[in-house]
Amino acid sequence: MKSGSTFERSKKVWEENLKLFPNTKLNYPSESLVRLFSSRYVPVPVPPARVMDHGFGHGNNLLFASSKGYECAGCEISKNLIKEVSELFRGFGKDADLRPVKGIDIPFEDDRFDLVISWDVIHYNGTKEAVGHVIAELYRVLRPGGVLLLSTVNPESSIFDRMEHLGGGAYKIVEESPYDNRKGLTFFVPDSQEDLSKMFSMFTEVRLGKLYHDLFNHEKRHSAYLVYGVK
Ligand SMILES: C[S@@+](CC[C@H](N)C(=O)[O-])C[C@H]1O[C@@H](n2cnc3c(N)ncnc32)[C@H](O)[C@@H]1O
Repeated sequence: MKSGSTFERSKKVWEENLKLFPNTKLNYPSESLVRLFSSRYVPVPVPPARVMDHGFGHGNNLLFASSKGYECAGCEISKNLIKEVSELFRGFGKDADLRPVKGIDIPFEDDRFDLVISWDVIHYNGTKEAVGHVIAELYRVLRPGGVLLLSTVNPESSIFDRMEHLGGGAYKIVEESPYDNRKGLTFFVPDSQEDLSKMFSMFTEVRLGKLYHDLFNHEKRHSAYLVYGVK
C-alpha cells in the first residue's frame, strides 16, 4: 500500500537533507532512548533481542543498540541514508539488515522483532489513515509480547510555528527555515494524547509519556508524545 505524493515528497526531502544541511547530522543516540534502554522506566527486551529501527535516519540510535549487543535491523525511505548507515556499520565491523521502505508498508515479515523503535517518524505519513496503517505495520512485525518504543512530534514543538493547520490533525509546513528543507511536508498529529492512545488500541498494554526540550535555541524547541506498547 502506498500513500502516493506524501511519500514521494517526504522521500525527496530526506534524500537531500544531509547534503543541504550536513550540520544537522546526529552522531549520538537520543538521550531518552538511552535512558529507556536501561529498563529503569519500562521493561525493554535485553540483548541479544532483535531490534528494528523504523526510519533510522543517520543510524545513531541503531548503532547504539548494536553496541549494546542487540541484533539490528531497520528501514528507511531514503536510499542515501541506507547507504550512509550501511557504511557506518561496516566501519565498526557490525551487521544490520537495512531495507528500503517503498510506501507505508514495513518491509519485514510478521512477528519478527522483540523490540521496534520508531523515533520521530510516523507523523511524516501525513494523514490519520496512513499513520494508522503504519502503526498496524509496526504491530505486525513485533512478536507477541514484543515492545514498541515510539515518539511522535506534538504541536508544542517550534516547527508548528511555521505550519498551517489543515484540520483533522493534519499540518502543513508553509514557511522555510534556516535549519531544514521540510517546507511542503504534511504531518499528522492526533489532537490529544487520548486520541493518540486510541490509535494503539490493538496493543495489549499501552503507556504514554512526553518529551520536551528547549535547548536555548527556541526555534529548535522539540516536544513529542511517547508511546510504549506491548503486543
Ligand atoms: C526526524 S528524522 C528521525 C530519524 C531518527 N529516527 C532519529 O530519531 O534520529 C525522520 C526520519 O524518518 C524517515 N522517514 C520519513 N518517512 C518515513 C517512512 N514512511 N518510513 C520510514 N522512514 C521514514 C526519514 O527519512 C528520516 O530519516
